Amino acid sequence: MGQRAGWVLVISMAVLVCFLVLGLCFIGLVVSPTLRTAIFRLPSPPPPRGYATSGERIYYTGVDENGQRIRFEGGPMWLYMHGGSCVSCHGPDGRGGRPVMMGTEIPPDIRYHHLIEEEHEEGEEHPPYTDETIKRAITQGLNPAGEPLDYTMPRFRMTEEQLNDLLEFLKTLD
Ligand code: HEC
Repeated sequence: MGQRAGWVLVISMAVLVCFLVLGLCFIGLVVSPTLRTAIFRLPSPPPPRGYATSGERIYYTGVDENGQRIRFEGGPMWLYMHGGSCVSCHGPDGRGGRPVMMGTEIPPDIRYHHLIEEEHEEGEEHPPYTDETIKRAITQGLNPAGEPLDYTMPRFRMTEEQLNDLLEFLKTLD
């Protein structure tokens, strides 16, 4: 092999290696959000969180076990457009207390132990909640006295199983 041919070989090898490295970088950028944000500071969507229980998933996402959105009536318009669930109004800790956009009532504390307390909100006339009346509040929007809750609280079409799962989750909030 002449000297010239040797150089051609070295250069083409070098070019090949460069392409290989660039290619790997590119694939790395495409598949790895961490790498992408580290380099470009692009906002990347949060990694899908694994939910420990079905109740937790419903509380945070409003999505059923098949990934379908649980249907509801009432509630503000943005809930239909942007999605959301109990967490959007009652907060990640279930304590509510903050007004919501286009809402006409401040979402209350819905931690289980709070709902079943004798006096759960000042000035409220109704008896404490039970498992059955909590489920009824979620599906029909009625308080224990049978009076309608404010329109801001959606009425969810949930199965008995979903309601039980959700109740189990409300019990874990303290
Ligand atoms: C768009 C906001 C919104 C969403 C979403 C929402 N709620 Fe509510 N919720 C409210 C408001 C506001 C009230 C208070 C209504 C009233 O006092 O008349 C309420 C009331 C309740 C009550 C009755 C509490 C009481 O003290 O009488 C329960 C139980 C409840 N929500 C559970 C849930 C659960 C479970 C979810 C999710 C499946 C959920 N809510 C989703 C806004 C919301």
